[in-house]
Amino acid sequence: MNVSPCFDAGSQYCPCELAELGQCVACSLLRGEEVCACGWSGLCIYSEFIRSGKKGKPKRRTTAARVTKKRQIAQGAKIRAFIFEVEVPWELSAWCEAPGAFVLARPKGSPERFNVPISVMSTQENAMTLAVQVVGPKTTALERSCIEGRQITLVGPFWSGLQGLEHFKTRSGGRVLIVAKGIAQACAVKMASYVTGRGGTVKALLGGGPLNSVFVEEDLARTGALVEVLPKAKDHNLARVSAELYGDRYDVLASAGADVQHRALRNLLEGLDDPPAFAWTSNLSMTCAEGICGACLTSGFRGCKAHLPDGV
Ligand code: FES
Repeated sequence: MNVSPCFDAGSQYCPCELAELGQCVACSLLRGEEVCACGWSGLCIYSEFIRSGKKGKPKRRTTAARVTKKRQIAQGAKIRAFIFEVEVPWELSAWCEAPGAFVLARPKGSPERFNVPISVMSTQENAMTLAVQVVGPKTTALERSCIEGRQITLVGPFWSGLQGLEHFKTRSGGRVLIVAKGIAQACAVKMASYVTGRGGTVKALLGGGPLNSVFVEEDLARTGALVEVLPKAKDHNLARVSAELYGDRYDVLASAGADVQHRALRNLLEGLDDPPAFAWTSNLSMTCAEGICGACLTSGFRGCKAHLPDGV
């Protein structure tokens, strides 16, 4: 497996049980190699592991979260999507502040194989808002269990939902262009509030995508972002995004949408002399988000934990 910086490195969950198993995502020494090749993520995971008696730190807690609101945002024969709000302990909400934060959600009483990774759209002190597109058995089960007044099971926080998060951290005072479509619009709200809260400026180009529904316009406007809703277009609005990139200088381009959108936007950047850094939302399948199940493996990386290189 490839070595890469880990989203959990330095957190209260590091080192994790992967270190005990000799499978640490970030530390080559813990993987049995002789040379340190971690690229330094802010702390030495190897020495942390030795200091903690060669034991992983306790895992993320499971929370019973009461659904307080639910609203359909797309309702058709083939496409269904909904937004819901849940009560959560403030620690969970506080640790889901960063862009790319997500939780695993499943019906209460269901086994872990029903876990659905869901981006946190917004947080309040003891609550969070999540958006789900129904695409298969797990999301169908979740939709049926999300009933106002009932509880669902949440596990979190996790942070690997936005690859390229480091660009937001280093350039958040600059100019950020977000292109967000379909259910991935939900990710754009945290991205925008993170940047505008640090003195940066955000322009968001939104599209309904397969949902045919733009549902974050007001949330984004409240963050101070400049919002433009794109019409349906044969070229999927690539010409509009291209005009924006050539017309204005941006520090970061963030793609929130399907992998085909990520690839198309990356290709656009290749034509620029001084392209912005690129960040993209993760569309990987996940079940455990702890590096164990292997559902997220991509090109030899455990994508639920690893910072993926550009293009993977
Ligand atoms: S989701 Fe289980 S290993 Fe990544």
